[in-house]
This record gives sequence, structure tokens and C-alpha cells, in this order.
Amino acid sequence: MSTPLVVGVAFVAILTWLVVRSSTKKPYPPGPKGYPIIGNLLDLNTDPWRLFANLADKYGEIFHLDVVGQHIVVLNSLEAATEVLDRHSSATSSRAPNIVLQEYMTNGTTIGFMPYNETWKKVRRISHDALTRVASVNYDNLRVRESIVLIDALLQDSSEWQEQLKKEFASITLSGFFGYPALTSFDDPAFVGIYDFVERVEKALTPGNYVVEFIPFLKYLPVSLAKWKGDLNVSHEKDYALFRQLRDNGVGFAEKSGRNSLAASLAADAQKMGLTIDDEVWLLALLFVGGTDTCSDMMQWFFFTMIAHPDVQRKAQEELDRVVGRSRTPTRADLDHLPYFTAVVRELLRYRSPAPIGMPHYSTEDSWYKGYLIPKNSIVTFNQWAITHDKEAFGEDAALFNPDRYFNGSVGSETLKETKGTGHHGFGFGKRACVGRYFAEDSLNLICAQILWSLNIEAKHKNEKGEPILPSPNELPPGFAGHPLPFEIQVNLRFPDARVVLDNLKESLPA
Ligand code: HEM
Repeated sequence: MSTPLVVGVAFVAILTWLVVRSSTKKPYPPGPKGYPIIGNLLDLNTDPWRLFANLADKYGEIFHLDVVGQHIVVLNSLEAATEVLDRHSSATSSRAPNIVLQEYMTNGTTIGFMPYNETWKKVRRISHDALTRVASVNYDNLRVRESIVLIDALLQDSSEWQEQLKKEFASITLSGFFGYPALTSFDDPAFVGIYDFVERVEKALTPGNYVVEFIPFLKYLPVSLAKWKGDLNVSHEKDYALFRQLRDNGVGFAEKSGRNSLAASLAADAQKMGLTIDDEVWLLALLFVGGTDTCSDMMQWFFFTMIAHPDVQRKAQEELDRVVGRSRTPTRADLDHLPYFTAVVRELLRYRSPAPIGMPHYSTEDSWYKGYLIPKNSIVTFNQWAITHDKEAFGEDAALFNPDRYFNGSVGSETLKETKGTGHHGFGFGKRACVGRYFAEDSLNLICAQILWSLNIEAKHKNEKGEPILPSPNELPPGFAGHPLPFEIQVNLRFPDARVVLDNLKESLPA
């Protein structure tokens, strides 16, 4: 073939390739341009919530990243999240594979992190049945008991208030799930062992900590060449022994005392569903993970907002005085008559989240949003931080903490419909929405009510104008954490008789 002919054929071939390539280019959502092969990998060097917030500002309600071939789609408006995760939930209800958590730390029954499969459906069903709105009432005494423990501890010394909150929710969960006695010390072996497990779960879920997640064949290396496998085997045995013991105690406690425990409720249903005791053990462990730091992170935001908005604190306390009075503390029955106070808790769940960049779903089929393709096997997450700022859904002042938005029409009928009447999206979307939401809502409502009834909350440090010194609410700690940056608080009893009421109540509650 002559040279001009070769050049001509090559030219036509390249042109044809370019035309075919451009016509088959997939209509992914917009996003930052990546490098060949690694795609947007280097973008992930920034804190995820900050990266997502910046990209949401730039690209709007949906954007797309490609990290070494893994598609990541991020939804930044309430409309996009409800459309993709609620209405297309048949395509977007799985979770991304996680080798370390699934295969090494547990036997795969990790409710919040397992793929959408038959076992997930079973554990989801029994957890749902054990954590219904009605079942949640069983934990009220524990909620009040631990509120009083917390109030007493804060009045004595509020310097470790974040740790006290952690202990409070661990104690509610340990007692409620396993019949464990109230935690009296940070050194309690169950508290220490469980938090050790929680930290290892967080480590397993943070991208980059285990290379095997990117290069799966590394799991076939012998332990002598893969120290991480040996370490995980050791901690697996330790974790299993702890949770197995707690589970067995929880079942035995319910039989002996006639009182309820989550372990006993799950055990009864699990056997009917054909689940093993090991499934129960890991389900309980993962429900503990899902239910403790989430609640204590939200309580940190409660203290933050009450200090940053003393007018809201006073208004809620006035309502409590009017409706409940000062001779007893608030109960569940009062909540229906406390519209302002309950709006404060709703607004808290709207305003901030323990999961600021959502909890990633995983798509099992292609789906579409406004002409953009969300391909099968994508990580699809809802950007809680950006959704919070969605003016269309929550009004012009969406970025601010303002419980009045539920009374002044800022939260319109469409938003109420899309959030199933709650006016917030704090518990996620679709089939994977939080299974502990009634447990969580009731805990926040009852505990915040006891605290506001008993205490005035202030910042420990004030500036020369007497204003509280607080970190910016628009900054978060590095990584994935969903609580405010550190600050110090100061609390005082609102009125002297509160002491007597709290002491009498404490006497009447189960240990
Ligand atoms: C205020 C406290 C809480 C908040 C704000 C919260 C929020 C969330 C969110 C945003 C999700 C992800 C939903 C999604 O993927 O669309 C979730 C999932 C989950 N939550 Fe909660 N949660 C809280 C408390 C609890 C409690 C108390 C429990 C257990 C007793 C719990 C158990 C779970 C579980 C197991 C999942 C995973 C569900 C699944 O993948 O099937 N959470 N939660």
C-alpha cells in the first residue's frame, strides 16, 4: 500500500473511532475532570464533606466522580435524593462490597453494610419488628434513668461532656439490648470492648485503610505475608466472644426477669426466619454500632444549638413550664402537647447529621435522573450537608437552625410529602433508611426534654460582649465524623426544686 493511502486509511479509522466514541460517551452527571486510569482519585485527598460541599456548589443537585473506574454519584438536593433513592429504590438499595468488614470482622451479617440480598431482607425484617414505634416505648425508663445520670454528671463536672454522652447512649443500648446493668464507669469492660469494635468498624469503612478493598486478590495471601489478616482473626475472636456473651445474657435476662431485651426479641424471630445464632450476634453488634455514636453526635449538636440560640432554649423551656409544670419531668404523653419543643428536635435532625455525606447506597441496575445515567455498580450517596442547604425544600434560610420553619410555611407540602410528614431527611432514604429511627427519635425527644426541663445550658467561655465562644457550625472534624468541633459547656439547675424531683424519680426507676 502506498504511503498516502496508509495515511488516508489511518485518518479515516481515527475519525471513525472518535465519532463512535463520542456517540457512545455515556451521559454521566457532571463532575470534575479526572486523570487517565486513576480518574478523580487525587480529589479524595480533601475531607469528604468539604470536597462534596465544594462540588455541590459547583455542579448543583447531582455530580459524578470516577475513582479508578469506580463510579460515585452524589445527590445534593432533596428532590434528587428522593427520586433516585426512594422512587428508584429497586435499583439503588444495595451497599458497596467491604471485604474486611464482611469477611474478616463478622460472618457477613452486618445489617447496615451488607448487599441487598435474602439475608439482609431477613435481618432487616427482624430488626424492624423489634424496633417498631410500639416496641420503642419499652426503653423509656432507660432513657429517663440515663438522662438523670447525665444531668448529675454534668452538674458535677461538665469537662468531659462529650464522653458522658457516649456513655449515656452506650448504657441505654447495653441495658436495652442485653439487660446489662447501668454503666457506672468509662472502664467498664463491655463499654471498652464494644468501643474497640466500633473503632475497628470505622477503620474498615474508611477508604484507604485496607489495600485489599482495592486489590481483592490480596485476601488469598497467607497470614505470614499479610499481617492484617492475622490481626483481624485475633480481634474477630475477641469481638465474637464479647457479643456472644452479651447476646446470651440478654436472652437469659429476659427469661429470668420477665423484662424485655432486644436480644430476646431478635432471638425469637431469628429462629423462625432460619437465621443462625452467629447471625444474631453480629446483627446485635451492628445495631449497637448504628445506634450509639449517631445519637450521641446528635446530642452534641443539641448542646451546640441550645447555646448558639439561647432564644430557642428559653422558648422551649417556657413551653415545658406551661405544659408540664415544675413538679415532675416531661414524659412521652406530654410530647403531643409540646409543638415548639418537638420542632426543636425535628429541626436538629434536619440541620445536622451524624453522617454528613450520607451513608452510601450501591446501584444494582442502571437508572436515570433528569437525563443523567447512574450506572449499575455505582456508589450512590446523599450529601446530607448540601441537602440541608436546599432552599427549595426548606426555605430561604435553609442553612440556619430555625425550628420556626415548621410553623411559618418554609417547609412546604411537597417537602412534607417527600419526607413522609417529618419535614426532614435525617434518617436517610428508600429501603435502607434507618431501622432505628423510632428508637432514636424517642431517645432524642425524651432526653432533650429532661435536660431542658432541668438545666440551663451555656458556653463555658464567653467573649467580652458576653457572647458564647463556639466553633463555627460550618466546620466539621476531619474524616467522616458528624459532630461539631470541640467546645466547652456549663450547666446549672433551672430551679432548686428540680433536684428533689430528679432524686425522687431516680429512686422509682429500675437499676
Ligand atoms: C439520631 C440518631 C440516628 C440518626 C440521625 C440515624 C441516621 C441514619 C442514616 C442517615 C442512615 C442511612 C440511611 C440510608 O442509607 O439511606 C441510617 C442507617 C441505619 N441506622 Fe440509623 N440513625 C440514628 C440512630 C440509629 C439507631 C438508634 C439505630 C439502632 C438501634 C440505628 C440503626 C441503623 C441501621 C442498622 C442502619 C442501616 C440500615 C440498612 O442498611 O438496612 N440508627 N441511620
